[in-house]
Amino acid sequence: MKYTKIFLSAAMLLALGACSKQAPAPAVIPQPASIEQKGSAYQIPDAPMINIAAPVPDSERLMGAITEVWPQAALKPDEGADISLSISPSLEGVTSPEGYTLSVTDQGVAIEALDGAGLFYGLQTLAQMNREGQGLIPGVVIVDEPRMEYRGLMLDISRHYRDADFIKKQIDAMAQLKLNRLHLHLTDAAGWRIEIKKYPRLTEYAAWRPEETWKEWGENGHRYCNATDSTAHGGFLTQDEVRDIVAYAADRYITVIPEIEMPSHSGEVLAAYPELGCVPVADGQDFCVGNEETYEFLQDVIDEVIDLFPSHYIHIGGDEAGKQGWRNCTRCQRLMRQKGLKDVDELQSYLITRMEEYVNSKGRDIIGWDEIMEGGLAPNATVMSWRGTEGGIRAAHGGHKAIMSPGAYCYLDGYQDAPSTQPQAIGGYLPLEKVYSYNPVPDTLASDVRPMIIGVQGNLWCEYIPTAEHAEYMIYPRLLAIAEIGWTPQEERSWADFKPRAEKFNEYLASQGYHVFDLATEVGNRPEATQPVDHLAKGKTVTYNRRWWRQYPCNGDSTLVDGQRGGWNYNDYRWQGFLSHMDVTIDLEKVEPITYIGATFMQICGPDVYRPESVVISVSKDGESYEELKRIDMERVVDDEVTFTEFAWEGQSEARYVRYQADASSGVLFTDELIIK
Ligand code: ACM
Ligand code: ZN
Repeated sequence: MKYTKIFLSAAMLLALGACSKQAPAPAVIPQPASIEQKGSAYQIPDAPMINIAAPVPDSERLMGAITEVWPQAALKPDEGADISLSISPSLEGVTSPEGYTLSVTDQGVAIEALDGAGLFYGLQTLAQMNREGQGLIPGVVIVDEPRMEYRGLMLDISRHYRDADFIKKQIDAMAQLKLNRLHLHLTDAAGWRIEIKKYPRLTEYAAWRPEETWKEWGENGHRYCNATDSTAHGGFLTQDEVRDIVAYAADRYITVIPEIEMPSHSGEVLAAYPELGCVPVADGQDFCVGNEETYEFLQDVIDEVIDLFPSHYIHIGGDEAGKQGWRNCTRCQRLMRQKGLKDVDELQSYLITRMEEYVNSKGRDIIGWDEIMEGGLAPNATVMSWRGTEGGIRAAHGGHKAIMSPGAYCYLDGYQDAPSTQPQAIGGYLPLEKVYSYNPVPDTLASDVRPMIIGVQGNLWCEYIPTAEHAEYMIYPRLLAIAEIGWTPQEERSWADFKPRAEKFNEYLASQGYHVFDLATEVGNRPEATQPVDHLAKGKTVTYNRRWWRQYPCNGDSTLVDGQRGGWNYNDYRWQGFLSHMDVTIDLEKVEPITYIGATFMQICGPDVYRPESVVISVSKDGESYEELKRIDMERVVDDEVTFTEFAWEGQSEARYVRYQADASSGVLFTDELIIK
């Protein structure tokens, strides 16, 4: 933070004397780019006078934002107001229409900006300072503007439907955090969530299922039902509700971006309109790309969506297509021959490019998940990078815009604390500090590529999030970190400075009825992961009698003997994966007395990660003849827990070679260290 303190003159101290309280230093999220402490504090009265100097665009919207904080505020159309807003054609230090300056003197608070958005964000900063100081605003000059133009939150309302009130409540919090894009994941196999007049079965059937939760729905075979069935669960946004949400968001300078999934994650559409699937056998999730009716349907839907959402971007999904049905479909195969498409990736690219042309013809652009690059990226597409950052960076190198939402930092559906203390989540371990550590535009990127990375987004997928309260619990406080990543210059960000601000903001959200995760209860990372472990095998040579799984090599040969224990999840580069079978031998270099040999395995059944059902530990002095020290058999228990189980031998022995074999009937084994004492 550029935070310049200057010594107060005697005259200033006298002026301050009018205020008996000390104004607190500004503690704002996201941290403004520059705060200079300068001049007098100012006490905003309960019924402040507001001057909105003409010409200010959106003055009604701005007055709306003011009365949310000061319900008794009144307009005073000349000098001498407590808060004055004005537009300037140029402002030193501000280049973005979302930027602003905020100056406090003993005469009042003045906010200037290039556009209405900047004034709105200046007001958000002022509102936070007002809260902090109970109306006493410290004497400061703030010059502030966002680091990135796109600062988003994605809500998945397909897996569990969330209504308009829930969405508006999140919009309220987003606005205070200066987030400006709400991406609604409106369609997925678990339920279609937007009224489309031309296709009534989407909302009479595809929006409903017999089971309340996504998990039960999956366990019972992914069935749908009629809206009128007494056991129907689900719902959808009517077009009137959509218009209302879009307008509510616009009043808070937030654009709502609709996502209509294609060509996959569309099982609910195929259930309602089976003719849109492949022949002779439909893939349960993928549209038939070779069927002209698919384009008719998608274009009709896009027509209605474009009418409802003024957003420049329409998100067309594009992720995780199985593509299996296409390989065996007479129509898809015919299209591939006709168009000379060499594989199913190019077939997907054909659909995306054709839909992009359609969206472009309406004056809009598409965003797609990073899989839309497979088979060739549509010419004007913006890529939303989720499987890491490589997709976004590759797109940026190719001259495309990219929005970063990598799973490891931005997926708000992962555990935010020790799994045993949390409601079941999809997996992962993403505490607030890890979200905050993310830098979407590292200095290592070429300078011409950096501007193509236009934003950052937190994604809340809701497979394991059945209630509104749970959804908020996963969003807050992690969304605070996303907001600061997107707004504050990287060099002004510091975890130590952010953490107490986040605690305060989180408490405030709780006081406003948000169901936040309470940072005061945070347990933190797995204790074993927080300090290195020393043991006989550390740094010794490991022979892999069976290779690790190539998707999770971790640090290769050294992983199991590097003295580093793993954290709550296997994607922290501490855990090595094995496809059902692990078999390694460690050479201690000389015969040693041994009292312990053990390894810990993680189990999290959702992603097929299991502890072994059998472990054999043997030792040898010469590397030829082995003595079996211990054999452990354990029945598989499938449950919702994340567990860590140690499989170990303890006793007295002497050996130079230690062999450790672990086997599971299916799935992946993950272990972090083979400890020998
Ligand atoms: C995604 O998480 N499938 C975009
Ligand atoms: Zn087909």
